[in-house]
Amino acid sequence: MCGIVGYIGTKDAYSILLKGLKRLEYRGYDSAGIALIDDLNLNITKKEGKVIRLEEADCKKEGSVGIGHTRWATHGEPNDENAHPHLSNNGSLAIVHNGIIENYGSLKIELKKKGYHFSSETDTEVLVNFIEDIQKTESLSLEDAVRVALSKVVGAYAIAVISKEDTNKIVAARKGSPLVIGLKNGEYFLASDASPIVEHTNEVVYLNDGEIVVLTKENYFVKDAKDIPQTPYVQTLEIKLEELEKGGYDHFMLKEIFGQPDSIADCMRGRLNVDTGNLVLGGIQSYSKALQNADRILIVACGTSWHAGLVAEYFIEELCRIPVEVEYASEFRYRNPIIKEGDIVIAISQSGETADTLAAIELAKDRGAIVLGVVNTVGSSIARVTHEGTYLHAGPEIGVASTKAFTAQLTVLYMIFLKLAFHKGTIAQNKYRQLLTELGKIPEKAAIALKSNEKIKEISKRLKDARNFLYLGRGYNFPVALEGALKLKEISYIHAEGYPAAEMKHGPIALIDEQMPVVFIATKDGSHDKIISNIQEVKTRKGIVIASETKGDAVIPKMVDYTIEVPVTHESLMPLVSVIPLQLLSYHIALLRGTNVDQPRNLAKSVTVE
Ligand code: F6R
Repeated sequence: MCGIVGYIGTKDAYSILLKGLKRLEYRGYDSAGIALIDDLNLNITKKEGKVIRLEEADCKKEGSVGIGHTRWATHGEPNDENAHPHLSNNGSLAIVHNGIIENYGSLKIELKKKGYHFSSETDTEVLVNFIEDIQKTESLSLEDAVRVALSKVVGAYAIAVISKEDTNKIVAARKGSPLVIGLKNGEYFLASDASPIVEHTNEVVYLNDGEIVVLTKENYFVKDAKDIPQTPYVQTLEIKLEELEKGGYDHFMLKEIFGQPDSIADCMRGRLNVDTGNLVLGGIQSYSKALQNADRILIVACGTSWHAGLVAEYFIEELCRIPVEVEYASEFRYRNPIIKEGDIVIAISQSGETADTLAAIELAKDRGAIVLGVVNTVGSSIARVTHEGTYLHAGPEIGVASTKAFTAQLTVLYMIFLKLAFHKGTIAQNKYRQLLTELGKIPEKAAIALKSNEKIKEISKRLKDARNFLYLGRGYNFPVALEGALKLKEISYIHAEGYPAAEMKHGPIALIDEQMPVVFIATKDGSHDKIISNIQEVKTRKGIVIASETKGDAVIPKMVDYTIEVPVTHESLMPLVSVIPLQLLSYHIALLRGTNVDQPRNLAKSVTVE
């Protein structure tokens, strides 16, 4: 949440920062701002709303040193005053911040006693004045004042600070929120993730928690919180610029939905060989024995990643016969869970930055668990704090509503546990080969599922004005129902609920009337007859039924109002294809309702606050 950028070099900083903010806008879009140093002046422009409003604003654009921010509001409503950068009282320092300063209240009281005044409601304005105060009273350099201030701060942050007294310098630091530095001869870039940096350089340093970096036009230095110099680990970025563009699609979300045949194939590339029956997942090899001997597996995640965990629970228990518990990371961390030394905890996250998931990981590690990450974003915090892990290789996901990350998570988890089942001997060799072959066919089946796009667009026209939706599925398709409902809610703002289809009669059936669309994920599987009965129950009460069904289903098309066909696959792999029509349905309904599909209200891509 919130994106920060910085630039120091010889070029015009304004356009570099502005472009960077556009790339980071998916992290928050309540307001945006830029601070630039021009000679001895510090010029700040900030505006409520999206980066485009900042771009339209009349402002000074000169300077080759600057910082910028795009905000997801925590403290204080979205308005110009609360927008970053924030200026210190004497006008010498400007700061941008991603995260939360928990003890800002007490710091503010102390600063007020000393005569400081505040024009915003933010914790960030408190922090910049705290730094100013330390710098003044202790006559410290900017970097030392930042270090001392941060040693007294409780909370999570990534910050960047500039000073008009020290014009060849950006000081940045992180704890709990990400920060990447881009390195180029005579130029340095700073950002919350690599997306603003990749078009300038592919040499980067991911700052570690507690580190402070000083960037000048000539050099950069990294120190830890105790002021001890660190040797930064320089990495080469593998992201390609075109992965960050819409590539001819109207929205990132649509690009990402349609990219799933490729992203699923990318997850399997170099790992799964259908011909030889080989499955290699390099990232978690040292813990393969521990996985094999696990008495149980805990999965922690949030949102869509939690739904992927629920699907995984079904196939891990079925294939490996290991009990699985899937936990909302936010609940897990606050409920004193039972974790035994050596338990396996799997953390699933697209962004690798979700604060609740990070906190759940820390708790599990403290209690002696082995924590494995299934993460998309390379170099992210979760990838770094887990004992081992495997990347999805799905490419950057930019649409705020998660789509391709879900199918990539399922693909990677399936590979891990299919292999484990084989090693444990809980499935026969021929079943292993059959499932492996079927997994290898998922990219082409995802492409077939996408062919329903035009039909779904038409169905969406009839449903766009509904005020509520129910999504029902059984077995493997129950988590898919939850995911379908979440997708609709978050981008169309229509209330939607997902339920196990059989649970309908225990309550939700009371909602059904002729106005209520009910989406059944009714692909052919072990509970097909049962779901037919559930459809009947809805039709009897005049509900509008939309059913996704597998090709050749002779019964369902005759019973329902709308059908969407999905290709046949093994039921344990079905979520990989049955989710696709639901992603498209939410996309088209949202589009027809005129919402911002890629940047839905109140949401942000990386949820770095609790
Ligand atoms: C839904 C969505 C969120 C995320 C959740 C976890 O479309 O995007 O529910 O799935 O915030 O995020 P990650 O996977 O980055 O940990």
